[in-house]
Amino acid sequence: MTTLLTQNPLRDPQDRRLPHIAGPCGLVIFGVTGDLSRKKLMPAVYDLANRGLLPPSFALVGFARRDWANQDFAQVVYEAVKEHARTPFRDEVWKQLAEGFRFVPGDFDDDAAFEALRTTIEELDKERGTGGNHAFYLAVPPKFFPEVLQQLKKHGLTQPVDASQDMGAVTPWRRVVIEKPFGHDLASARELNQIVGEVFPPWSVFRIDHYLGKETVQNILALRFANEMFEPIWNRGYVDHVQITMAEDIGIGGRAGYYDGIGAARDVIQNHLIQLLALTTMEEPVSFDARDLRTEKLKVLSAVRLPSDLATGTARGQYSAGWQGGIYVPGYLQEEGIPATSRTDTFAAVKLDVDTRRWAGVPFYLRAGKRLGRRVTEVAVVFQRAPHLPFAATATEELGQNALVIRIQPDEGVTVRFGSKVPGSALEVRDVTMDFAYGKAFTESSPEAYERLILDVLLGDPPLFPHHEEVERSWEILDPIEDFWAAGGAPDPYPAGSWGPLSADAMLAMDGRAWRRP
Ligand code: BG6
Repeated sequence: MTTLLTQNPLRDPQDRRLPHIAGPCGLVIFGVTGDLSRKKLMPAVYDLANRGLLPPSFALVGFARRDWANQDFAQVVYEAVKEHARTPFRDEVWKQLAEGFRFVPGDFDDDAAFEALRTTIEELDKERGTGGNHAFYLAVPPKFFPEVLQQLKKHGLTQPVDASQDMGAVTPWRRVVIEKPFGHDLASARELNQIVGEVFPPWSVFRIDHYLGKETVQNILALRFANEMFEPIWNRGYVDHVQITMAEDIGIGGRAGYYDGIGAARDVIQNHLIQLLALTTMEEPVSFDARDLRTEKLKVLSAVRLPSDLATGTARGQYSAGWQGGIYVPGYLQEEGIPATSRTDTFAAVKLDVDTRRWAGVPFYLRAGKRLGRRVTEVAVVFQRAPHLPFAATATEELGQNALVIRIQPDEGVTVRFGSKVPGSALEVRDVTMDFAYGKAFTESSPEAYERLILDVLLGDPPLFPHHEEVERSWEILDPIEDFWAAGGAPDPYPAGSWGPLSADAMLAMDGRAWRRP
């Protein structure tokens, strides 16, 4: 299998703005001392600058509770860039970028700090030419979202919310970027949305699901809708079932405060995996505009049905101590900051149906977990067996089911598995694979998801950001499962380095199937 598509499907080739350089603007990051900023956001800003996609006047403002001057902040960004940037370090790019760095110290409840932020932004507009266009990135724990939003409004950092305004006509612009999780259930997501809506108009709100920023995730649309050979078999007539896996080898690291009480299903199924499900199952959108994409995603998400028996149609687990990659690692309950009685799931699996003409009767098995055998995210479309095999029974013993596997990461690409004759005088058939690998097909390396997403925020390009209705619908799917689990006992243990609890295997075995060993 060769190249699937050389161009990103979500950019209109007719679009005269290519190559999509942001106009005069600035980015304010709340939570610059956190892991996300250090490992992802700051390096992504540098990589964008290095690729020439930021304007020379670009400014980066950090806001945090630290007694830092601008130079201290610049040093923090420098270290983050040196350690985590994707593209080579170039002095001239760094110098130009660093001239636009500012730091505002303060707490979220500190009015004086927000006044200082406003003054800083006004100065940047005058001195550096940011043109009044600023995006506020809330890379802070979710409990601070409301306070930061209200402070932005109180201190005149936002625009008036005017429903009569046309989204294209609003300049200078103010935008807000909200990290996941957007709420922890349907009710809290609605509440948060209302608060956001009082401060920013809908077109200025960018909710992050970083999976949508990944090239391989966008490629699901290219694979399906730019080609002719897949779509005719992409339905219940040919597909037996679909497995969506997001396995991580890492534990929770230093994220106990965030993770405990949230768990695997809320952390990644509600957003990343459900988005993968939507992209895999949706009908062809009329265009790749945010509205047309959302229409199709919502349609299919509203057709998702939970298993009638949640006890057998879901599974959850929690890692115990075990060997992983040659190292003996502690169990979840022994991790720093985790209460010994915690019932948080570090593994979650769920079987979903999609009640549409295309998918009726095809189960979708989703699983996600920490401390699993290895890091891999994939969508495996597993096909039915041939209705008739004109071979001796012994000839097809090693023939499995045909499969098309979209390898989201780390080994990005697509695999097609099918049966082939084993060379020799007997007619014996065995599974073989055909491979498309990004590393081989393309010379350019894929941008990091956050590069793409930050750039899209600055360009005001919304297709890769989930709309609030999608977020709500995803919580509607997950809430009954979480309620069911909350009423049950502790999650099933699984040793670190394994592929999850036995209950997850039983969930598929009941249907006569087994999880893939990716
Ligand atoms: C985040 C989750 O959304 O995704 C983390 O909060 C997880 O728990 C991370 O580790 C994984 O991202 P990626 O891009 O490495 O698959």
